[in-house]
Amino acid sequence: MGRAFVYVILGGGVAAGYAALEFTKNGVSPGELCIISEESVAPYERPALSKGFLLPEAPARLPSFHTCVGLNEERLTTKWYNEHGIELVLGTRVKSVDVKRKTLLTATGETISYKILVVATGARALKLEEFGVNASDAENVCYLRDLADANKLVGGIQSCVGGNAVVIGGGYIGMECAASLVINKINVTMVFPEDHCMPRLFTTKIADYYEDYYKGKGVKFVKGTILMSFEFDSSGKVTAVNLKDGSRVPADLVVVGIGIRPNTSLFEGQLSIEKGGIKVNGKMQTSNSSVYAVGDVAAFPVKMFGEIRRLEHVDSARRTARHAVSAIMKPEKTEDFDYLPFFYSRVFGLSWQFYGDNTGEIIHFGDYSGKCFGAYWVKDGILVGSFLEGGNKEEYEALSRATRLKPSVDNLTELENKGLSFSVEI
Ligand code: FDA
Ligand code: NAD
Repeated sequence: MGRAFVYVILGGGVAAGYAALEFTKNGVSPGELCIISEESVAPYERPALSKGFLLPEAPARLPSFHTCVGLNEERLTTKWYNEHGIELVLGTRVKSVDVKRKTLLTATGETISYKILVVATGARALKLEEFGVNASDAENVCYLRDLADANKLVGGIQSCVGGNAVVIGGGYIGMECAASLVINKINVTMVFPEDHCMPRLFTTKIADYYEDYYKGKGVKFVKGTILMSFEFDSSGKVTAVNLKDGSRVPADLVVVGIGIRPNTSLFEGQLSIEKGGIKVNGKMQTSNSSVYAVGDVAAFPVKMFGEIRRLEHVDSARRTARHAVSAIMKPEKTEDFDYLPFFYSRVFGLSWQFYGDNTGEIIHFGDYSGKCFGAYWVKDGILVGSFLEGGNKEEYEALSRATRLKPSVDNLTELENKGLSFSVEI
């Protein structure tokens, strides 16, 4: 015997928090909704973990960044869930799901049944072991996905001030953590296999700007190589990193950000999987009509590109979650999801935003030796993507609006000359 709910959200991250708020806005009754999360705290804004959480002075701490403060909405504390009659089952891993029977089995042995399930299991950080290197258990090797990781990293930072950190990976985690380590007065070496940072998004020219900025802050880059092995002291702490190019970098702290894998395993063989995620339609509904998927784990149709995509960014988690709940609670009034992909990052005093798709020809614009510059991506004569560093609110809004319109671009030189004003004037 177990408990039964009308709606169950599996996972307690960003998407779960925004889904819960949307359920209450749509009149869910007390006792109808349950959230089950492996984490021991109510849903929070995960992006804070690589930014405010790592600051040496006045760091961000819960409860200040529970969802849904990221979109200036209510902050949903444990008390809020209690007051709204939402069952929050924390610190509990779901170990199996039977979508035919509509039941979940928790690691504590409880069976929970649902009428509608929202899968919001997010993703897990890839471990070094998956690349054949054993060291993840060392006390000074850190990943960053959840609060437990962030607490371990803060401990690592505190015992490393003035020392050396090696950051493995040149993606989002690598760049944001490297900046936070520098702010904590730690010497940073970044190691990654590509020839420039943020290879999934940045052009070489954009990457050069950030790498130069980081170098100005003392960060060293070792590019085009990967980690081969670690050296340890007698207590099992890492003391140095050996790279494939034969070099050796001393390390008091290692931070690893080498990508993620969506948490789909509970559903493999039960739901359709595409692009590494759970495939959904424009209502965020999976191949089983009682199961919806949202956030990092969902592969959804991006209408404006006519393609199924899986995005790993907070805006997409928030909006797919809201959309799924709207489709569940108001099916007749909910159109197919029509999303403009939006990513952003903030490091040091820098701040960029990206909209759309980074495919096609690249047109750089603005002052790459100054504070405000950007790029457009033009595919088959249509503007499909845009990037801006150092813009203001109106400029970012203009970029977003222009990208959504997918305007034709006949003359690339004219676009380059117009730069940001192309979007502002549209
Ligand atoms: P999320 O990972 O948030 O939540 C998944 C939840 O499911 C977790 O609570 C997990 O414990 C739980 N779970 C999984 N399996 C389970 C099981 N079997 N049983 C029970 N619970 C289970 N994006 C961006 O656009 N800008 C930014 O600045 C940042 N910054 C950033 C920093 C850091 C440190 C990270 C790790 C990520 C970002 N991101 C970001 C990405 C963004 O945070 C991410 O896209 C969202 O958190 C995805 O939200 P989800 O709810 O899908 O997964
Ligand atoms: P990522 O995919 O952004 O970057 C992974 C990086 O790992 C690659 O760029 C590559 O440089 C490196 N790499 C791969 N294999 C390697 C190897 N064997 N040795 C050394 N380096 C290797 O992933 P991430 O940086 O780990 O970020 C994890 C998740 O968190 C992503 O989903 C990301 O979108 C999300 N995130 C987003 C933001 C943001 O949007 N601002 C911020 C932080 C995290």
